[in-house]
Amino acid sequence: MKIWIPGPTHVRSEILEEQTRAMIGHRSKAMSELIERIDPPLRLAFGLASGSSATVAVGNHSATAMMEGALLGVGPRVLSVVNGSFSKRWAEIGKLLEKDVSVLEFPWGQAVTQVQLEEALKTALKAQRPFDAVTLVVCETSTGVLTPLAPVAKALRSSPETLLLVDVVSAIAGSPLDFDAHGLDFALAGVNKALALPPGITVMCASKRYLDGARTKKRMSWYLDPIRTIDGHVERKTPATPVVTLYRALARQLEDITKGVTLPARDQGKTGAAAWSARFEKHARLRQATLAWAARHGLAPFPPEPLSSPTVSCITAGGLDVAALIDALKKKGHEIGNGYDKLKGQTFRIGHMGDHTEQGLAELLQAMDEVFDSVRVRA
Ligand SMILES: Cc1ncc(COP(=O)(O)O)c(C=O)c1O
Repeated sequence: MKIWIPGPTHVRSEILEEQTRAMIGHRSKAMSELIERIDPPLRLAFGLASGSSATVAVGNHSATAMMEGALLGVGPRVLSVVNGSFSKRWAEIGKLLEKDVSVLEFPWGQAVTQVQLEEALKTALKAQRPFDAVTLVVCETSTGVLTPLAPVAKALRSSPETLLLVDVVSAIAGSPLDFDAHGLDFALAGVNKALALPPGITVMCASKRYLDGARTKKRMSWYLDPIRTIDGHVERKTPATPVVTLYRALARQLEDITKGVTLPARDQGKTGAAAWSARFEKHARLRQATLAWAARHGLAPFPPEPLSSPTVSCITAGGLDVAALIDALKKKGHEIGNGYDKLKGQTFRIGHMGDHTEQGLAELLQAMDEVFDSVRVRA
């Protein structure tokens, strides 16, 4: 079965094999060397400028755990931009941690604009209650919306003390990130989306000012403490027993991406930042092909097209029976995703992310052509 759901996504056999090697002790030199291999390419994934003072690290848990961890390191006043299910999760976690959470809510399928965010930040400043942090999700996997970060960064300039915490779960390695230029303070992601690894660990990046601020806060968790995790990583140690197998898979995948190993023939020979850019361009072409298929069949993307994610296309189902479409495709060896939560049955989602190829997508779209007429809802 070819897996096209919006994560976990297809994992290359070389990566699966990487996890079958003999175990090493997690306090060994071999483990320190393994951690050492991860940082240089991980810094490229977060788009860190050379000489950036930000720090990257790995956490032994899924992404949601580090949403909690990231919030532990900021002050009480949090503004959560909510435009889907995962951005809502930031707000829910903030409330559970007894933060003073304000929600800037948008209908599913939309994204915050610079003006709207600026207005919320300025109103808080005028009341002399500036926000300590803004949370948002860059690629809302539930709706296929990619929130552009440049306007968000501009809005944050009106409230310089406010930190920006972003979930880049289904954005990283599929869409360019510019951690420094976009003024990010904390970014986190699971690895089972466009990094194309099995689930289980989280990558993160924290700015110096986030870390400086977090060190002054009361430590409220042992396992999820961002300082313990990040300082441990910097010392090439892990606070608790790590998922050694996934560290190996991560190191190999990041190195392969950086060496251009995963690129299509047209981009062979590209390495370093150029290889990462070519990976992003491949994702943009996968989005374009998917949306062109939808347009040919009279179907619209759920988000307005400029907001359509390069990693997950969420398509309005129109006259299609989504459950029947999913079943028919499974019979042809492809698995796509239903709409998420309240969009179930109204949309379907294709995760064209990670190491999926243009040839592979063409085969999926061909299969979708073949079943299309049989899954229309009859009047
Ligand atoms: C954008 C986004 N954020 C957060 C999560 C939660 O990740 P996890 O379930 O791995 O904790 C997901 C999961 O799909 C996601 O898509």
